Parts: sequence; C-alpha cells; structure tokens
Amino acid sequence: MTNTIAQELLDRRDQARLGGGQKRIDSQHAKGKLTARERIDVLLDAGSFEEYDMYKIHRCADFGMDKQQIPGDGVVTGWGTINGRPVYLYSQDFTVFGGSLSESHAEKICKVMDLAMQNGVPLIGISDSGGARIQEGVASLAGYSEVFYRNAQASGAIPQISMIMGPSAGGAVYSPAMTDFIFMVKDTSYMFVTGPDVVKTVTNEVVTSEELGGALTHTKKSSVADGAYDNDVDALLELRRFYSFLPLNAGVKPPRQATTDEWDREDTSLDTLIPENPNQPYDMREVVQKLADEGDFFEIQKEFAGNLLVGFIRINGETIGVVANQPMVLAGCLDIAASRKGARFVRFCNAFSIPILTLEDVPGFLPGTSQEYGGIIKHGAKLLFAYAQATVPLVTVITRKAYGGAYCVMAPKHLGADVNYAWPSAQIAVMGAKGATEILHRADLDDPDKIAQHTADYEDRFANPFIAAQRGFVDEVINPRSTRRRIARAFELLKNKEVHQPFKKHDNIPL
Ligand code: HXC
Repeated sequence: MTNTIAQELLDRRDQARLGGGQKRIDSQHAKGKLTARERIDVLLDAGSFEEYDMYKIHRCADFGMDKQQIPGDGVVTGWGTINGRPVYLYSQDFTVFGGSLSESHAEKICKVMDLAMQNGVPLIGISDSGGARIQEGVASLAGYSEVFYRNAQASGAIPQISMIMGPSAGGAVYSPAMTDFIFMVKDTSYMFVTGPDVVKTVTNEVVTSEELGGALTHTKKSSVADGAYDNDVDALLELRRFYSFLPLNAGVKPPRQATTDEWDREDTSLDTLIPENPNQPYDMREVVQKLADEGDFFEIQKEFAGNLLVGFIRINGETIGVVANQPMVLAGCLDIAASRKGARFVRFCNAFSIPILTLEDVPGFLPGTSQEYGGIIKHGAKLLFAYAQATVPLVTVITRKAYGGAYCVMAPKHLGADVNYAWPSAQIAVMGAKGATEILHRADLDDPDKIAQHTADYEDRFANPFIAAQRGFVDEVINPRSTRRRIARAFELLKNKEVHQPFKKHDNIPL
C-alpha cells in the first residue's frame, strides 16, 4: 500500500465518521441525543465494532442530490459483540439527510439482516430517521419493503430488537413493529404512522409529537413499545443487560450466566406473603424477585396491563420467561390488554427455547361491555392458544386463586404444562365462593344465614388445592419457601424436553 492510498483511507474514514458535519452533530447533542456512532460505542464491547459499507453513497440525481454525497448515506452498519456475544446492527445517522431511508441506505440494512439470518445472530436496529428519503420517491419505498420482507423472514429465527432514539415516522415504524421488542427514549423519540400536522388536517385533532407517539404514549397506552428509558446511555446500557437473557437464534439455548445465588435457597418470607383475606392483594413482583437469581427481573411492558407481569429472570443461571398475575392491579383479572401482552411474550419464549414459569393468582376474566365489545373472546384466546402451542418446558405455580376460564388459560396441565405446583393457599374452582353461592342457591338469596352457610360450604370444598391435587391436576402442594428449589429442579429435569407436533404450514392464531 502506498502512502498516498493509506492516507486516502484515513481521510475517507474521517470524512465518513463526520456524517452530516460538526454543526449537525452539535445540534444532535443539543437535543440530548448521541450520534449514531456514539450509540454503537455505548452498546458494544469496546473495540469490537466492525463497520461495513462506510463509503456507500446514494444514487439519486434529482433535486440536486447528485451534488450532495455523504459517505455512509445516513446509516452505520456492521457487527460487534455485547458481553462477548455477537450481534449485527444498524444505527441511523440523523445528521445525514435526517437519517432518511434511501435505496442505498436500505441496501446497507438488508445486507446486515441477511448476514444475521445466515449466521444465526440477532439484529439490533437503532432508529433515528425522518422516514422515506423524499427526493428518491418509489426507490425509497421499495427499500422499506425489502427491509420489511426480511423482518418477517427473520421473525422467530433470530431475535430482532428495535431501539427508537429519535423520530420514526411513516414507513419507519413498520420495521420496528415487526421485530420482537421495541425500546424507546423518553422525550427524544417518537413513533407514528402520520404526524401531528396530518392528524390535524384529517381529523382536526391538535396533538403534539410527544402525545401522539412519544415513549410514554407507546409504553402506557398503545403497548407498541416494551420499555422506555430516560436517555440514550441508560437505554443502551439496559439493552446490553437485556441481550444477555437471549439466545443467538432459535436453534440454540440462551446463555447460562454464572451466579452466586444458591439454586436451593429457601425464602421463609414467602410462607407469610399471602394475606388471610383472599380479597386482599399482595405484590406478585415481590414473589418473582424472590425466586430469581440475585432478584434480577427484566420486566417487559412494565407500564402496560399491570395486571399481568411478564419478563425474564434466571434460575440457577438459566434464562426463564415469567408470566405472573398481579393481584395489585384489577385483582389480577385477565383482560384484553393482559391477554395480548401475555400471548406475545409466551410466543417469543416458545420461539426461542426459553422455558416459562407461570405464577397464577387470577380471579377470572374481567367482565363488562367494554371487554366484550373490544373482543376479549378473541384476545383471551390468544393467550390460551399461545400456551397450548408452547413446547418449551412449562412450570406453573398456583399461589392463590385459579378460577374459571382463567384457570383453563394460565398453563394448566391440560394445555401441556409439565409440572404444576400449588401453594397451600391455592383455591382452584369455577368461581369465587360468593358468586358460586348466589347462582347455586338463588332461592335462598333473601336469607343471609343460609347464604353464609352455603358460602362457607363452598369454601370448605374448593378453597384449597387438594381437590385439584386428587385429580392429578396439581403434581404437588409445596411450601412457598421451597418454591425456588422446586422450580429449579423441575426446569433442570425438563431441559431436554421434546414435543412432536402435527405437520402444518403454520397455525392460525386468533388475531
Ligand atoms: C429527506 C429529510 C427527511 C426525509 C428529514 N430530512 N426528513 N430528507 N427525506 N424524509 C432532512 C431535512 O431536510 C433536514 O435537512 C434534516 O433532515 C433534518 O431535518 P429537520 O426537519 O431540520 O429536523 P427536525 O426539525 O428535527 O425534524 C425532524 C422530522 C422532520 C420531524 C423528522 O424532518 C420531518 O417531518 N421530516 C419528514 C418526515 C416524513 O414525512 N417522512 C416521510 C414519511 S412517509 P438539512 O439539510 O436542512 O439539515 C414514509 C413512507 C414509507 O416514510 C411508507 C412505507 C410503508
């Protein structure tokens, strides 16, 4: 290599690294945002990033674009490692044409997507983009569809994670929407199909970008996003933590993480956690944390459908997906939001060989016109369908109520669960004693003494785990303090579980 060429290489790299120029980098920083490359530096292990297509440029000649060429064309792509494990990624550079997606920009993204799929390595996309490159027209739209096609192909084959760190408007929302998880940054990121101006023109609604598609909107209201963080650095560091729970692809198991937490650790506080009064709530999140290695629970959609907790823990170093009714919110009832949240999570775990722990305390499906009109029948069926289809190890612990249709849904033996435990406080019945009495003894409704007696009789009969245990629907009634040891042993035994399913092209989950 001559000195001239070596110098040219250095110059070209420097030029590419400057993106849209210092002024635009300053403006990015002034908004509290990192640049595309700074984000990669925070996310990946130091020195591990290898960039591809750094010099790639667009091919548009319209609107004076032939005189505006910036190497890299608004997206930084390549691969690196997170805690030593590989990942392909792209990071859109808002300083270059607003991170907008041109044909070339899309080709760069597609290249890393193809490599990720071919090599069985996850893909992380960092979005900060004004959407389709307006000067390019249909070539840009074609680029989007190429990306969408690959998102669908990769779904269930490799984990795909989206980190929204700026605008994501129009077509830019649909690639993240097809990935497994979307995380956002509060105040600086937003996602919407049409922006506030179009909304005002079409519907007369006046709304800010933040209200329409900010991180709080999507984590609390729409459930489009799975988590929101205060700033870029927090978000990327949490993404590093999250990544360590996931396998590289559908054909391998998640990584084991060394732990100093004894696998058979007893927790006596669990013995007294369930209140005497069955109508009094307790915090199921506390149960999850007490069972997890080092209390570490990476919760998904924490701000949405709080009546169902989902997320990842480790037991004895192994990743476990947790689905748990939360009695603190809506008494833990299943509703539309919780069913959708749970179903998607169960399907992710099943696709990527992550065993599922179900913690059950559920008084039933939430009644009411808003639920029925909203289609609780179809949405509740999603969770039912997801569990029934899951072939990963399934361990269920009934901590208190397992009533009615919700018992049928929350990973009972009859849907294929492998090991089902109940705490002594479990109550497994068609419904609560009061409701049951009012239906069975309608003629005695005017006699409070008789009703009290019938209610007590019903409670005596069903407010315990033993009727279900006598049928073999519960494998064992366990002391709450020993739950971690029991589930650790169960998952260890189920490690090589294999289930063969009938041939089909794919299922038809109720959508
Ligand atoms: C080309 C774009 C661009 C785009 C932004 N820029 N969006 N260039 N195509 N889509 C450029 C701007 O011209 C500007 O260039 C620079 O990026 C920064 O943009 P600003 O507007 O100055 O930044 P800001 O004020 O922060 O506003 C960001 C923004 C806004 C809200 C994203 O730029 C915007 O509304 N852009 C258009 C969004 C949009 O309608 N996209 C198309 C969606 S339709 P200079 O040179 O001045 O720095 C779509 C269809 C796909 O995506 C459908 C597939 C299903």
